[in-house]
Amino acid sequence: MHADVGAFDRFARAYNLVMPRARVSKLEAGLAVADREIVRALDVGGGPGRAVRRLDIPERTVVDAALGMLAQARGYGLATVAGDATRLPIRAASVDAVFIVDALHHIRDVETVFAEAARVLRPGGVLVVREFDPTTVRGWGLVAAERLVGFDSAFYTPADLSTAMEDAGLEATVVERGFAYTVAGRR
Ligand SMILES: C[S@@+](CC[C@H](N)C(=O)[O-])C[C@H]1O[C@@H](n2cnc3c(N)ncnc32)[C@H](O)[C@@H]1O
Repeated sequence: MHADVGAFDRFARAYNLVMPRARVSKLEAGLAVADREIVRALDVGGGPGRAVRRLDIPERTVVDAALGMLAQARGYGLATVAGDATRLPIRAASVDAVFIVDALHHIRDVETVFAEAARVLRPGGVLVVREFDPTTVRGWGLVAAERLVGFDSAFYTPADLSTAMEDAGLEATVVERGFAYTVAGRR
């Protein structure tokens, strides 16, 4: 389990209070890469379910390693599963979309995380990753700020994540570029 999880567990309530709402249009742009109806979605490293709780998807489940975060997610009526993104306790080919929003830089083991996402996706399903580009000016600031507060995070460019998705057997598309960017991979 990654060291940052303890901090997210302790500060789950405060995190949920201070974080802005996820932007629906950004998430939907990633979902549009799918080639199937989205009925069941996972929000991996989903914390209080900030991403999926904004979306009109029939079955929404938050997977997170921090139990405090899952308690927050349940407050929104979301289903929750305690687990590690590198070993998802989810059946193979059982979901239509996997979101990993603002979380991959804390989870870190991109190769294994993407292999797990690909395993649980149905054909035509999509992995939607929202991250921060460390090569942008705001990205440099974020990298420095996370180091300063003691997070053990690692940041990736859109090209890094596209390559990792392709290596996991997903067809990658960079949906949005910039400080906050989106890469989506269709299974
Ligand atoms: C910055 S928060 C993002 C939460 C949410 N996705 C959002 O957009 O607000 C990062 C989350 O990743 C979770 N996390 C970190 N490492 C994890 C792992 N190995 N497996 C599952 N969750 C993890 C943390 O517990 C935390 O809830």
